[in-house]
Amino acid sequence: MSADPDVVIVLGTRPEIIKLAPVIRACEEFGIAYSVIHTGQHYSDSLDSVFFDQLELPEPDHHLGIGSDTHAKQTAKMMVGIEEILLEEEPETVLVQGDTNSVLAGALATSKLEIELGHIEAGLRSFDRSMPEETNRTVTDHVGDYLFAPTEQSRQYLLDEGVSDDRIHVTGNTVVDAVQQNRELAIQKSDVLGELGVQPNEFGLLTAHRAENVDEKQRFEELLEGVSRVAARFETEFVYPIHPRAQNKLETFELKVPDQIRLIEPQDYLDFLTLENSASVILTDSGGVQEEACILGVPCVTLRENTERPETIDVGANRLVGTDPEEIVDGALATVDSLNEWKNPFGNGTASKQILHALSLSPATEVLQ
Ligand code: UD1
Ligand code: UDP
Repeated sequence: MSADPDVVIVLGTRPEIIKLAPVIRACEEFGIAYSVIHTGQHYSDSLDSVFFDQLELPEPDHHLGIGSDTHAKQTAKMMVGIEEILLEEEPETVLVQGDTNSVLAGALATSKLEIELGHIEAGLRSFDRSMPEETNRTVTDHVGDYLFAPTEQSRQYLLDEGVSDDRIHVTGNTVVDAVQQNRELAIQKSDVLGELGVQPNEFGLLTAHRAENVDEKQRFEELLEGVSRVAARFETEFVYPIHPRAQNKLETFELKVPDQIRLIEPQDYLDFLTLENSASVILTDSGGVQEEACILGVPCVTLRENTERPETIDVGANRLVGTDPEEIVDGALATVDSLNEWKNPFGNGTASKQILHALSLSPATEVLQ
């Protein structure tokens, strides 16, 4: 933290906190002057403060407390708050990570000021323009000065859109840093399997929270039906740490959750990593969970029509099945024969240091290739 920061980090949701934690740690390690703006997009303890506590992150320097709203209102309120702070702090660079409304707000506010913008996890594309995340990430890439692409594939997507190569830095994804920094801790500290009474490799893990899956009753119902059929075929139970958005929709739609799916509260990071690492299969619509499953060597089935993480499919770690119940079953059955020997395509866990080095904030000797 600093009164006169070189870098301002904008974050607002669970995945941003998790994936920016290694960047914040690296700033601390190198003595870089930074400050953190929390937009308040996520505010429930289970999506927010639990990660600050567990990952031992300092309190944000600024908390905008924006909360939930329509896309335009939420983004606009964030932009106003972020601009005021940037005018006051005049940093060299603002860093945003991912594709949420907090990212879009940080990017747009920064791009109109004489401050450089760095986009971590640049160049991801689902090519599905109906997704709000696709708008957010595409706009952010096009106004960004430093585009930290996790893979050569994401670099290529940017080049295909006419982005000049000198703005692109392939660094890997900071999610690898996060997994490496917390995997051992999870093994030592988490007792989630005991608390839930499940054995390693004898349960499946489900997460589903995407607007396109849970905001439409029929699609959400189909998705749950598919997962229950997989549970029946595998004679196993699925554990579903449910995001508040999905929980609200279950209640609004009065959907009955099949018996083989056990709803639990959203988990902290060490418990969730333990569940991922111990599951026989992961069914998800989450971006971060697709990556982590791939990194941890656990087969993944993605309950979407497309993915902006094609690398996970290319290496054989992930299957894209949508929400048709029989497609979900076929996808899950196909994982039984998989060898789980793919190579993680998202880098070697030095993404955070490479990002700070590209910004000329950390010494080259610290960058491990
Ligand atoms: C947002 C991101 C999504 C990301 C997800 C990570 C956008 C457009 N979407 O989706 O890309 O995958 O975060 O989890 O930025 N709610 C709570 N408590 C909270 C936050 C939200 O109860 O702390 C409920 C509210 O009912 C709210 C709903 O969840 O209306 C949706 O929240 P919102 O932040 O709009 O989107 P997410 O679904 O969380
Ligand atoms: N996660 C968590 N607890 C949970 C579910 C997810 O800690 O109960 C973590 C997960 O390990 C990953 C991130 O949250 O790092 C993914 O966030 P989410 O699925 O909300 O968003 P997305 O990645 O789809 O944007």
